[in-house]
Amino acid sequence: MRIILCGFGVVGQSLARLFDSRADDLYAGYGLKPRIVGVFDSMGGASSPSGLDLKRLVDVKKEYGTVKKYATAKSMSGVDMIKNLDADVLIETTASNYKDAEPGMTHITTAMKKRMHVISVNKGPLALAFPSLMELAIYNQVMFRFSGTVGGGTPILNYAKNSLKGEQITSFSGILNGTTNYILSNMSQGMTFRAALKDAQNRGYVEADESLDLDGLDAAAKLVILANWIMGMKVTMPDIKCTGIRDVTTSDIKKAAKTKSAVKLIASCEKELVVAPKEIPADDPLCVNGTLNAIAFTSEHSGTQTIIGKGAGGMETASSILRDLLDIRQEIAGK
Ligand code: HSE
Repeated sequence: MRIILCGFGVVGQSLARLFDSRADDLYAGYGLKPRIVGVFDSMGGASSPSGLDLKRLVDVKKEYGTVKKYATAKSMSGVDMIKNLDADVLIETTASNYKDAEPGMTHITTAMKKRMHVISVNKGPLALAFPSLMELAIYNQVMFRFSGTVGGGTPILNYAKNSLKGEQITSFSGILNGTTNYILSNMSQGMTFRAALKDAQNRGYVEADESLDLDGLDAAAKLVILANWIMGMKVTMPDIKCTGIRDVTTSDIKKAAKTKSAVKLIASCEKELVVAPKEIPADDPLCVNGTLNAIAFTSEHSGTQTIIGKGAGGMETASSILRDLLDIRQEIAGK
């Protein structure tokens, strides 16, 4: 399977390591031979129709900060690479941006128009244009997969879509942002918001643009993806009522604790789509701490089920990409 990889940050490098370490069993177990024929970061790209050497790619990135130095040949821009290289699947891992979704949006639409299947862990394009991207994928008869956009390696989307197949999910609510959960968990142990934020930053949890976590945009983007994919809604970011955690005070948290509850940033799909801090009973399975994510789906006949897991991380997200790739591989083989 020929792949173009957009972005070579933590997730892209984890994916290269995963492909390298699992090469034998992916082929033996699934008939999958992933071949990265092109990769680019913000400074340039590297390509080889026969497949790039994954270890070398990671080493070059580590040494020079860009994959551009992989070869001496003049490197192509990302979009030129997508237009000119022959590949089966585009994997989009560049940073999420909720203003115009670029550059991910152009990568994805260019690939779909070239009839490439697409896997995205970049939430921006889905948050701003889920319904039209789905239409574009259908029009061009390509598969579009994005299981890593919600829950990282925890298969939240697959659970609701596949394991609850045939069920009518009536509502769901969850903790979809690990960073704010870490901050709120620490505040419940007595830390101030500032100190908890600083701690989360020191551990590398907080997005480069902290507003994406603190103002609820990351959780809202995940809610958009869930609402479209699971509930069949046609919604985008402006349809979400979104409040972040900046105004949550230590006294709000103490007040909640008196009734054996905790304040959590909850994304919910009930009568409307809302992201906001909410008190959750401490004994509710949803009430997880640290960087964990959790989501409770309520369906017509199966009651409420809660999935808990790590919502971020390079290897976890790379594992979600592999899941999507195997799905695409199986669909193609079944045709
Ligand atoms: N900033 C996100 C979080 C990363 O904290 O959950 C995963 O999307």
